[in-house]
Amino acid sequence: MESPLSGTSLRGAIAGRRSIRRYRADEVPANILQLLLQAAVTAPSAHNRQPWRFMLLQDCSTKLALADAMGRRLRQHRTTDGDDPAAIEKDVARSRARIADAPVVLVVCLTMEEMDVYADATRARAEFLMAVQGTAMAVQNLMLAAHSEGLGSCWMCAPLFCPDVVRATLDLPQLWEPQALVTIGFPAGPGVTRPRKPLCDVVRRHERKRFVHLSDPEHKPARHHDGDSVISDHG
Ligand SMILES: Cc1cc2nc3c(=O)[nH]c(=O)nc-3n(C[C@H](O)[C@H](O)[C@H](O)COP(=O)(O)O)c2cc1C
Repeated sequence: MESPLSGTSLRGAIAGRRSIRRYRADEVPANILQLLLQAAVTAPSAHNRQPWRFMLLQDCSTKLALADAMGRRLRQHRTTDGDDPAAIEKDVARSRARIADAPVVLVVCLTMEEMDVYADATRARAEFLMAVQGTAMAVQNLMLAAHSEGLGSCWMCAPLFCPDVVRATLDLPQLWEPQALVTIGFPAGPGVTRPRKPLCDVVRRHERKRFVHLSDPEHKPARHHDGDSVISDHG
């Protein structure tokens, strides 16, 4: 199978991707879009049920209809929160421009149709989360593939806050649950490099019921015994 990341290394694609929020007006060629979607659906998913669903928007009037409908809900929410009206209008306008000016908007949904059904809330929630996780992995694949093709993309979470609005505006199938939208296009600029927490802040080494800070000067990588380490120095 041809790699969607051919032309650049996976490590380079991971390191070089940035969220891109402003695009050139150029269209995204259909064959590249196809390749991105193919990368998305190649993601792993729980039970291989492939819960992701995508609605592709390229038509200006549809993008605007969605941006305006979501903007109305955003205005409503923030007015209820008591936010400054001028700040609300600025936010609504910014969000509208981001959606309307992106050559491609991909509405990311999930469906529970083929996921397992449980009567108890704990397992039902686990099953739902697995669908969310698989769908997020598909989007990550797509964003990395976009970057490797010289395209930019940005995840926008707005649909999570107004799924009913998205569903009604786009007349989505009843069982599609809107999760996000991803804007895609050729970048107007390089984007901003945002810092990441160092590994030592977010990883602990589990050693014999002790959690060891990675930067702990006392720490000497131990020879691992069966099952007592989740992260190994030794590959
Ligand atoms: C679940 C999720 C939701 C996000 N929502 C938004 C959003 O609504 N608007 C936005 O501009 N960026 C959004 N982003 C992008 C993040 O702001 C961005 O990934 C982060 O700041 C790191 O920057 P980078 O992607 O350039 O590395 C979202 C990213 C994720 C993973």
